[in-house]
Amino acid sequence: MVINPTKVHIPDEDQENIIKKMKEILNSGQLTLGPYTKEFENKISNITSDQYVTAVSSGTSALEIVALTFNLKDKEVIIPSNTFVATATPFLRVGSKIRFADCDPFYGSITLEEVKRLHTKDTRAVVIVHIGGIIAPDSLLIKKYCEDNDLILIEDAAHALGSSILGKPAGTLGEVGTFSFYPTKIVTSGEGGAITTKNYNLSEESRIYRDQGKVDFYNNYHTHVGSNWRLSELHAILGIFQLDRINEFIERRSKVVKAYLDQIKSEKIKIVTPPPGSESNWYKVMAIVENGISRDELKVKLSQEGVKCGGEVYTAPCHTQPIFKNTTKSSFPNSEYFSNQHLCLPVSVVMSDDELSYVCEKLNNRLALI
Ligand SMILES: Cc1ncc(COP(=O)(O)O)c(C=O)c1O
Repeated sequence: MVINPTKVHIPDEDQENIIKKMKEILNSGQLTLGPYTKEFENKISNITSDQYVTAVSSGTSALEIVALTFNLKDKEVIIPSNTFVATATPFLRVGSKIRFADCDPFYGSITLEEVKRLHTKDTRAVVIVHIGGIIAPDSLLIKKYCEDNDLILIEDAAHALGSSILGKPAGTLGEVGTFSFYPTKIVTSGEGGAITTKNYNLSEESRIYRDQGKVDFYNNYHTHVGSNWRLSELHAILGIFQLDRINEFIERRSKVVKAYLDQIKSEKIKIVTPPPGSESNWYKVMAIVENGISRDELKVKLSQEGVKCGGEVYTAPCHTQPIFKNTTKSSFPNSEYFSNQHLCLPVSVVMSDDELSYVCEKLNNRLALI
């Protein structure tokens, strides 16, 4: 048996309807920023407590726009080291001083303690990331700290559409949230992203940046140095069909996790479950392998038996990346520990019960040999 790390699921009936809609779009001639982009935004707004939503071409463009809207040149921005480079590169590009933060060794996410340690008079913003869809456990504490200290809280919720804490959806915790609809995510538009905010002015500004800095789609009056960060109608229609299934997808992913929790017997591995009061969308099923066991060797052995684990989040923390060599000199023991010791178990909405049992059996057997 071969179990793949993940699989995009676009049910056959949806594929037929998407193709019909795509034909309609092609015949309409309005291929970008049209009614389907609006509908895509409205559906994201429904999932994120009626925030203003700006659909964009990727999670990266969402962050590029956010970095521009806050005027962060020469300002310090605290960013977790354990994240994808695109959380940080937009801030580097606008001339911010990046201060990387170490992470919690179990959840892989930024902590209040680190935010406090790094906070200086030049700090203007803090970015939190919900690694693997698990809400960063200190999110609400960091939110309060940012409010009390006049810091902008930016939520890179690329992984976390549908996750929540105390009933508050990911993407609504900070001044602004960003999402990705890349094909590995729990719902996809092929490529795509979104910016969510309660702040109307900020939302209008992100729309301007999205479309070459123009105040209005129909004229060529440029007030901002924007770019082409638009989402096409063809991407939007795929995203709409996927968003309609988000609850069903999260439910199935939760069942996958329940099976892992029930069937993995080894004490040498611990599945990362959401902190109290929060719900995960289970973008990733992360598990921490006991110190002293090589995650990489375990991954190779499992792969030889057909169990293909997913890509880590992340294999190399940002502070180790050459592009950030001038930004940081601290050490990040917890980020490095998390990077080395976490394993992402296969997860998809089409995984069968037999496949799940197979993964658990191989994992239990392999760990028993170590
Ligand atoms: C934490 C995080 N932020 C931002 C992004 C960028 O999203 P995209 O690939 O849609 O540009 C990713 C990509 O997966 C990510 O993992």
